[in-house]
Amino acid sequence: MSVKHGGESPPRDARAPVGVFDSGLGGLSVLHAIRQRLPGEDLLYVADAAHVPYGGLGPERIRARADVLTRFLVDQGAKAIVVACNTATAVAVSELRQHWALPIIGMEPAIKPAAARTRSGVVGVLATEGTLASARFAGLLEQYAGSVRVVTQPCPGLVAAVEAGAIDTPGTRAMLAEYLEPLLSARADTVILGCTHYPFLTPLIREFTGPDMVIIDTGDAVARQVQRRLEGAGLCNPSASVGREWFWSSGDRAAGGATLARLWDGRPALRALEER
Ligand code: DGL
Repeated sequence: MSVKHGGESPPRDARAPVGVFDSGLGGLSVLHAIRQRLPGEDLLYVADAAHVPYGGLGPERIRARADVLTRFLVDQGAKAIVVACNTATAVAVSELRQHWALPIIGMEPAIKPAAARTRSGVVGVLATEGTLASARFAGLLEQYAGSVRVVTQPCPGLVAAVEAGAIDTPGTRAMLAEYLEPLLSARADTVILGCTHYPFLTPLIREFTGPDMVIIDTGDAVARQVQRRLEGAGLCNPSASVGREWFWSSGDRAAGGATLARLWDGRPALRALEER
């Protein structure tokens, strides 16, 4: 790995863990994909639940939080950072890359694959207001939408519902009914989940769309990118043993722990994030 920007350059060690963060527990959908693709890696996960949703924070605050969380993960020995949050990627990933000389993998709504797959010529995007309002998202549309019609739908309330573990409640179902209606009336045949919290709602989303809708979740594409970056930097964990996971939260650990137990197997402990 070359140090291009003269930023902080933590020591590199292939046996070190991969650090992952999100505004909350939604990024666990990405962590699942990374765990499946890279079974030997140790994984660190931070939920910034004291500040969720990032959609309401504004770009400067999100950048400051992304910096705090990255520093924490680097202090824990992370060899690479995954920004498992579309909203934080949209406003903060460029600054992180300028500052930190280690692989930083971000994510964004999958406009390109969706535009390639649609047959009806209409693609729907469910995402946070922050992501949809970002310059990065406008750039994605300009670059990849081509002649495809892209119907964007902000989804206030869905992130909070997943944080509360309400992944199959009447309230969440009612929100989804409202948010999916414009996509269905526009005859979208492909829906992009542009927020890492939403894959946990896929079974409910399917109730409204039926089985033929193509639902695109970016988790595995991110995991593949993590794999490529680790391989390219010679940082894949050579150990033959199965990797472990550690979890931290800046928010209420009783509530977060209950949702974590719902979204991740094995009753993992949720530690308090200590910031410096
Ligand atoms: N999981 C985050 C994302 O992918 C949610 C952002 C938020 O907290 O508003 O965008």
